[in-house]
Amino acid sequence: MTRKLAATIAMLACTVLSLTAPAAHAEDDARGERLFDLCKQCHGPAGEGMALSLAPAIAGLDLWYVEMQLTKFKQGVRGLHADDLGGLRMYPMSQWLENEEDINAVSTYVASLPKASPHSTIEGGDAKAGAAAYTLCATCHGVKGEGNQVMNGPPLAGMNDWYLMTTLQKFKDGVRGGNSANPTEMMMRGMAMSLTDEQAMKNVIAHIMTLNK
Ligand code: HEC
Ligand code: HEC
Repeated sequence: MTRKLAATIAMLACTVLSLTAPAAHAEDDARGERLFDLCKQCHGPAGEGMALSLAPAIAGLDLWYVEMQLTKFKQGVRGLHADDLGGLRMYPMSQWLENEEDINAVSTYVASLPKASPHSTIEGGDAKAGAAAYTLCATCHGVKGEGNQVMNGPPLAGMNDWYLMTTLQKFKDGVRGGNSANPTEMMMRGMAMSLTDEQAMKNVIAHIMTLNK
C-alpha cells in the first residue's frame, strides 16, 4: 500500500466515524422522544407527574435509576403485587419497551427533561421534626435529596408528596419491598419501618418538600 493510499483510507475512516457517531446519537434521541409519547398520557406531557393517573414525576430522574426501574417493571420484579394499584398500571407499559435499547433510549430522554418542582398537597407535616428523621434517609438519598447511586438510593427531591406518601405506606405494608427478587426494595422496606405512624411519614415528607428547587 502506498503511503498516500493509506493516508486517504485513514482520512476516509475518520470522516465515516465523524459522520456516523452524531447521526447514531441523534437517532437514539429521536427514538427516546418517540417512545416518550406513550408515557405522557400518565406521567404528563413534561414528565411532571399526574395524581389522577397515580403516575409520579419522572422528569430529570437519574438515568441509572430510570433504567433500573424500567428493567424491574419489565421483568415483573416491581409492579405485580395484587395491592399495588400504581405498579399494576405501570407494569404493562414497561412491556411496550422491547429491549435494552428501547429502555436506554427512553430513559436517556426522561433523564434529560428539566426536573419537576411539584407543590405540596399534604397538610399537617412538621418539617422540623421531619428533618431529624431524615438524617437516616440522607445516608442513601443524599442530604439534599439528590440521590446516591453507590447506595442505589434514588433522588427524593422533586417527587410528588402524594407519591412519597403512598410509596412509604407500600414499603411498610410490603406491597413494595416484600419480594426477595428485589433486594434493594427489601432494604428500603426496613428503613420505612423507622417511620412508625402516619404523622412520622407526613413530617419526613414535609422536610423532603423543602428540598425542592
Ligand atoms: C397507564 C399509565 C402509565 C403509562 C402510560 C406509563 N406509566 Fe410509568 N408509572 C405509572 C404509575 C401509576 C407509576 C407508579 C408506580 C408505583 O406506584 O409504584 C409509574 C412509575 C414509573 C416509574 C418509577 C418512578 C419511580 O420514582 O420509581 C418510571 C421510571 C416510569 N413509570 C417510567 C415510565 C415510562 C418511561 C413510560 C413510557 C414508556 C411510562 N412510565 C408510561 C403509570 C404509567
Ligand atoms: C440504607 C439505604 C437507604 C436508607 C437509609 C433509606 N432508603 Fe429509601 N430507598 C433506598 C433504595 C436502595 C431505594 C430504591 C429501591 C428500589 O430498588 O426500588 C429507596 C427508595 C425509596 C423511595 C421510593 C422512591 C421512588 O422514586 O419510588 C422512597 C420514597 C424512599 N426510599 C424514602 C426514604 C425515606 C423517607 C428514608 C428515611 C426514613 C429512606 N428512604 C431511607 C435506600 C435507602
